[in-house]
Amino acid sequence: MQLDPDNLPKHIAIIMDGNGRWAQAQGLIRLMGHKAGVKAVKEIVEAARELAIPVLTLYAFSTENWNRPHDEVSGLMTLLKNYLKSELEAMLKNDIQLRAIGDLQKLPADVYDILSETMERTKGNKALILNLALNYGGRNELVHAIKDIGRKLLSGKVQVDDISEDLVNNHLYTRGLPDPDLLIRTGGEARLSNFLLWQSSYSEIYFTDTPWPEFNKESLKKAIADYQQRQRRFGKTGEQV
Ligand code: FPP
Repeated sequence: MQLDPDNLPKHIAIIMDGNGRWAQAQGLIRLMGHKAGVKAVKEIVEAARELAIPVLTLYAFSTENWNRPHDEVSGLMTLLKNYLKSELEAMLKNDIQLRAIGDLQKLPADVYDILSETMERTKGNKALILNLALNYGGRNELVHAIKDIGRKLLSGKVQVDDISEDLVNNHLYTRGLPDPDLLIRTGGEARLSNFLLWQSSYSEIYFTDTPWPEFNKESLKKAIADYQQRQRRFGKTGEQV
């Protein structure tokens, strides 16, 4: 599949859905679906690096995912920890910088520690920013930003008329990152599930029935090819762009 190297998305964000159903369809427990999902994460990170996509955000754990059965939550946390441990070397070798968005302080201490260490060790890397959304919710992020701005208003550091889209952007977990150009959701559902609500205002959205464990480099290229066919108008007419 031929992609236009001059029209690649600068930021791809993915809702990795369908792990549980993929596992159940083959008589496996849901956690096996997440385990297969980690394999897909590795392949897609490698593919994004090869395709020279500057930022890849993966929705790995939402603020709502705590409501899942305890075993599934703790299994996901263990997979995440093992992933971070096993991939550090590859991140260093391939110039990948790890970042995370979400209410990170509420993660289990061991996950938080290894996450902080991996971010610190990779912070100078430039080729790809791998941004993990962990205990992330778009509404939680906006509340967090509003509280921060509110504190600054009360202390006089910010005036009401200083509040602008830029100021809000600078108080989001994603500050400094471009908005996603392409947002992919695997697993057959067509909703945003509280993901990057502010940042996805003008994202091109791509839904696929492929469950996350089966999403591979070819699937990613197909999504990018679809993105490259679209005309992004940002509110203008087709003649203006
Ligand atoms: C949604 O599938 C997926 C998740 C809630 C977790 C995603 C986690 C991983 C892919 C593995 C860990 C991540 C990293 C970055 C190492 P689902 O369980 O909701 O699927 P279903 O809709 O079929 O039940």
